[in-house]
Amino acid sequence: MPSPTGNRLAVLISGRGSNLQAIIDAIREGTLDATIVVVISNREAAPGMMRAREAGIETLHISAKAYAIRDDYDRALVRELRERNVDVVCLAGYMRLVGGPMLDAFPDRILNVHPSLLPAFPGLDAQRQALEYGVRVSGATVHFVTRELDGGPIILQAAVPVRADDTVDSLAARILVEEHRIYPAAIARVLAGACAIQGRRVVQPA
Ligand code: GRF
Repeated sequence: MPSPTGNRLAVLISGRGSNLQAIIDAIREGTLDATIVVVISNREAAPGMMRAREAGIETLHISAKAYAIRDDYDRALVRELRERNVDVVCLAGYMRLVGGPMLDAFPDRILNVHPSLLPAFPGLDAQRQALEYGVRVSGATVHFVTRELDGGPIILQAAVPVRADDTVDSLAARILVEEHRIYPAAIARVLAGACAIQGRRVVQPA
């Protein structure tokens, strides 16, 4: 998937990879001008790895078992990403905390998608948290990754009403539709240079 402007993405996954698929599809459809140069997973059997291979994208499994120190894992990641001249790193269902070496190597260049309207319900099981709390509206958030878990400046959000008969699965499915819509859109904004960070806010650059 060559890209005329040469925006080079890496996508980090741990599982299903439906957000990865949404990014692949947006590139194919021409709404996102970028190339995914590598998909990296900490889990070898992540179904998303198959999606990447089917799309002709290089895949790389980096096992945490090989690294006793967490930062060493991140240093290995940085090496692989630098080797491939990656511009922007997209976390898509990546179930590891991103540490200092990655944040230092890619300042304001790591994005994540989260299945709630942050700052509500960070961390695991966000859809269950929302349902159990009783909120009437939840949603999806794409944000820059910082040292604070799910706490970085917000690029895009989409609201999803919670229905009286929702289960965790039904709510998660409707939120996922929004994730797939806003994640490629947020990546496109960042690559277009349309996102400047001012404190907590993401604004149009002057
Ligand atoms: C998504 O709900 C995402 O928001 C969360 O993990 C899930 C990953 O799904 N961080 P997928 O692997 O992209 O299908």
